[in-house]
Amino acid sequence: SKKIIIAIDGPAGSGKSTAAKNLAKKLGFTYLDTGAMYRAITFLALRSGVSDNRDKIIEIARNSNLTLKTDNGLTRVFSNDEELTDFIRTPEVNSKVSEVSVIPEVRTEMVKIQKRIGEKGNVVAEGRDVTTVVYPNADIKIFLTATIDERAKRRFKEFQAQNQSITLEEVKANLEKRDKIDSSREVSPLRQAPDAFVFDNTGLTPEEDLEFLYNKIIEVI
Ligand code: C5P
Repeated sequence: SKKIIIAIDGPAGSGKSTAAKNLAKKLGFTYLDTGAMYRAITFLALRSGVSDNRDKIIEIARNSNLTLKTDNGLTRVFSNDEELTDFIRTPEVNSKVSEVSVIPEVRTEMVKIQKRIGEKGNVVAEGRDVTTVVYPNADIKIFLTATIDERAKRRFKEFQAQNQSITLEEVKANLEKRDKIDSSREVSPLRQAPDAFVFDNTGLTPEEDLEFLYNKIIEVI
């Protein structure tokens, strides 16, 4: 049977992870969270105190041997068999990850791993460049978005659920900063692929979002 790839890009907090996870579950596909990989490299660089040293970050990316496992919708990330899952979604990583992600050599390493995962097929991948660079021939491309206020509120709720002390204003400022860096970088900027289907899910529940996207996808595959 055909090896399907569904690629979803969009700004931070647009619900890509939730939608991709839910779609993967419903379709029986593999979920690929590419952001988790950039987060893992960022965490490793922060832990080694080299997050401002480009050459050291590249070295970390090349030696990271990242592997991903999905358990009940959660992407577990390992580097050289050490589990990093619990360390990659912190405010510290959030504030540094976009700077790490501009480094072309880091991207080359991550894209190599992502393409390898894609070759097996039946993948729902989400990130910033999966519709444009990683899987230019994806069977379906979706550009998911929502207003900045809605996206900030969603992330803020996630942090509150984890008891992280951060304000809504801080969350919004971080999203805006990341979107700006992610969209304006030279290599693989966040862009709407010309053949992507654009969907604004402002005001929709995750369930409504899933239903809409699922129906759209089964029209195509
Ligand atoms: O999707 P998530 O918010 O976890 O991504 C974290 C960061 O990783 C993004 O803000 C972006 O800087 C980077 N990223 C990227 N390319 C991807 C996925 C994520 O540059 N494909």
